Amino acid sequence: MDIRALKGRSLLTWLDFEADEIRALLDLSKQVKEEARRGERKQRLLGRTVALLFEKSSTRTRCAFETAIAEEGGHGVFISFADTHLGKKETIEDTARVFGRMFSAIEFRGFKQSMAEDLAKYSGIPVFNGLTDDYHPTQALADVQTLEENFPGRKGLKLCFCGDGRNNVARSLMIISAKLGINFTVITPSGLKPDNVLTEKCGKIAKVSGAKIEITDKLDAVEGADAVYTDVWASMGEEAKKEERASLLKPYQVNRVLMDRTGRKDAIFLHCLPAIRGEEVTADVIDGAWSRVWDEAENRKHTIKAIVLASIGDI
Ligand code: CP
Ligand code: NVA
Repeated sequence: MDIRALKGRSLLTWLDFEADEIRALLDLSKQVKEEARRGERKQRLLGRTVALLFEKSSTRTRCAFETAIAEEGGHGVFISFADTHLGKKETIEDTARVFGRMFSAIEFRGFKQSMAEDLAKYSGIPVFNGLTDDYHPTQALADVQTLEENFPGRKGLKLCFCGDGRNNVARSLMIISAKLGINFTVITPSGLKPDNVLTEKCGKIAKVSGAKIEITDKLDAVEGADAVYTDVWASMGEEAKKEERASLLKPYQVNRVLMDRTGRKDAIFLHCLPAIRGEEVTADVIDGAWSRVWDEAENRKHTIKAIVLASIGDI
């Protein structure tokens, strides 16, 4: 497919994208990464501005958007909820309308998925979801790029997410895997399984791509995994549940023993970061030979550059 067909598109969830569209974004991301390696400087976002609206904290997502946009000659304006009228004196609808008159696009990170949808609806400009309680789509694209870089050309990749199966990262990985034909296993205690509606939806999508989607509480499902992935036990906004989560998820910690259970000497470890060593992952895994987390963090920038370029850039 022609990447130019993505002009003006929002990215709210990968459910809205076809497999060949996601593939085109991965190809563009690979291209921009190679350009960066060669030291080439492009200006494909010259004169474009993006509102970077953050209700929750961020290191990687904010930095990836800011640097990717600046490198292409555009400008990202960081707007934290602490410093705007939004949610106090002004509604989301009115804020969106104003952004629509000033910016080329909006990045939003916050709690409610409906807020990302409302921003798109009332601004009339593309909105990129930088994480909500439901989804983290830009993260999932970087994760697939990292996975495929490590196993070039391999068909039927197996990705295992071991941890809080209900969270935004697990949900977005399930969708993108189902779309792209990646076998995806969520290993999680029964109380933390991804919701049935999404699982059924992904099951249907997987029938088309040939992906196998599996949800289990059994750790031995990690066998044969190309990549083991985890995330924090309590996501942003769930701090009060930390103790309860710790007791549920302690047996699901990604440690040396679990990595060995893959039976694969070349298995890799992925984590969206931030990571808490000694909780969801041990230091010997995240800092050891399995780990690809720094490549994964870097790929946030290349994939985000591709997403923004495809939507509002001169390509
Ligand atoms: N992985 C990720 O989204 O990191 P930040 O919360 O630092 O943006
Ligand atoms: N699930 C985590 C991801 C952080 C990037 C959270 O929502 O806090």
